[in-house]
Amino acid sequence: MCGIVGYIGKRDVAPLLLEGLQRLEYRGYDSAGIVVTSPKTPGLKMVKAKGRVRDLEAKVPARFKGTTGIAHTRWATHGAPSDVNAHPHMSADQKVAVVHNGIIDNAGDLRRKLEADGVEFLSETDTEVLTHLIARSTAEKLEDKVRQAVRVIEGTYGIAVLHADHPDRIVVARNGSPVVLGIGEKEMFVASDIAALVTHTRQIVTLDDGEMATLKADDFRTYTTEGTRTTAEPTTVEWEAESYDMGGHDTYMHKEIHEQADAVDRVLRGRIDDRFSTVHLGGLNLDAREARQIRRVKILGCGTSYHAGMIGAQMIEELARIPADAEPASEFRYRNPVVDPDTLYIAVSQSGETYDVLAAVQELKRKGARVLGVVNVVGSAIAREADGGIYVHAGPEVCVVSTKCFTNTTVAFALLALHLGRTRDLSVRDGKRIIEGLRKLPEQITEILKQEEAVKELAEQYADARSMLFIGRVRGYPVAREASLKLKEVSYIHAEAYPASELKHGPLALIEPALPTVAIVPDDDLLEKNRAALEEIKAREGKILAVAHQPQEKADQTIIVPKNEDELDPILMGIPLQLLAYHTAKALGRDIDKPRNLAKSVTVE
Ligand code: G6P
Repeated sequence: MCGIVGYIGKRDVAPLLLEGLQRLEYRGYDSAGIVVTSPKTPGLKMVKAKGRVRDLEAKVPARFKGTTGIAHTRWATHGAPSDVNAHPHMSADQKVAVVHNGIIDNAGDLRRKLEADGVEFLSETDTEVLTHLIARSTAEKLEDKVRQAVRVIEGTYGIAVLHADHPDRIVVARNGSPVVLGIGEKEMFVASDIAALVTHTRQIVTLDDGEMATLKADDFRTYTTEGTRTTAEPTTVEWEAESYDMGGHDTYMHKEIHEQADAVDRVLRGRIDDRFSTVHLGGLNLDAREARQIRRVKILGCGTSYHAGMIGAQMIEELARIPADAEPASEFRYRNPVVDPDTLYIAVSQSGETYDVLAAVQELKRKGARVLGVVNVVGSAIAREADGGIYVHAGPEVCVVSTKCFTNTTVAFALLALHLGRTRDLSVRDGKRIIEGLRKLPEQITEILKQEEAVKELAEQYADARSMLFIGRVRGYPVAREASLKLKEVSYIHAEAYPASELKHGPLALIEPALPTVAIVPDDDLLEKNRAALEEIKAREGKILAVAHQPQEKADQTIIVPKNEDELDPILMGIPLQLLAYHTAKALGRDIDKPRNLAKSVTVE
């Protein structure tokens, strides 16, 4: 979703910001803009363009010099994608420029009030309200102008503000939309995502909600919207700039699918404790006594993370014998949930910034619940709000659709389930069995990915399907859910997932030769039941692609996946179907890394 990048220092700012915007492209956007200034040549110079960053770049004139600037990629909410609605927004006197992520809920009211006072609006955006509020403030300091403005708005924002009369600073503020400062040598950066910063600095300060900052070339300070100074110690991010390169692959999705063996190796590293057949999870902040008091586990997430949570819930139930389930965070927070002190709540999020998940965590904390985070981005909002958690260490994931983070999240859940299990009744023998299974995962992933050519051929066969059904039972069901989501997100083929056990209760009516079924058929205690489902489909002339541990007689094709422990099989069974989604999308010529209408992290409601 919308991206912000800003710089203050000595360098020529426009190329730097355009490069930063390119690094944020993956978040999804429909227009872009940039504004620059410098202490030597005061006055704001601005260019905006509907379309891609390269369209903006083409419009930037040769003489567009400056050493301070802010830029933005916009994802339309209030007002259609257009040059005018693109950010930055500038005040009528051309003194104030603002870029904004988030949504201002009371923009309509504020706009009417400002219009009644004679302010003329140029755009349809909610952000323009902020620009006028800042410009009309009579406060002397830019910080005070911004502070006054943000105190009358309701909603979410991450903003960066430039003022023609204060070219020595950028003022930023955060409430619900990420703002990260990058600390350099006599230069400072700001962005909504560390992806835009890592080529320049690894020293990062993440703002909290309600926090603001002033960036000058050689200094920064943070304070609350009430004006109280806050302390902000920079932390070092581990992610390398190279992790954001495509590394010879044609898309990030392809690259990230192929990074999974290494990624899983990372989530396991240093955590296995062979002596007690368990795992160490340093950041959990949950001692054995507390772990034993948990009576339920509730996992919350959105999209792919929710599906990883479904797998996690099953693992926790199986290995720790604690009742567990997963629910979309967006649903949970709107149903006035009963919050129980004996329940452990787990928020799952790759980005750690998804608004619905963050809001659910805040609601839970407000009600006194204990919340853990299972998060990829270190230091992200959800990671910081939670009482403890597990980092999934997948490395940066750039493709909008999630692959390696999904896999690493399921492995992180296996670790948690094993840990909780071993504080309860899981035997040493079973603990050992799971550890052996975990250790096998990277090699088995490599083995699966070797079948890419065969999966590609299958994808080409199925690419003309109008719709596909995905089925699985118990452990296979969340795998089917995620595989169906992956296919629809990236290929735009309609796909639906159903529990195989429910076939008779409806979806069987759909079966005919033109509707292929993808069936997840693990070699577990439900194998015969799954085979019976395949027979029912075959009897109605449905085509079947099985993902299984051994060839399935009733299937037209079977992708064979190496067998692990029953509880861990779901981690592996979806991997060939990531390749299926990728190659189907490729056969159809889709924009694989940036599917239409989708964004990598949804930081608004
Ligand atoms: C968006 C993305 C999905 C992702 C979901 C949750 O919808 O398009 O790929 O699964 O957000 O993101 P999170 O960062 O919280 O895991």
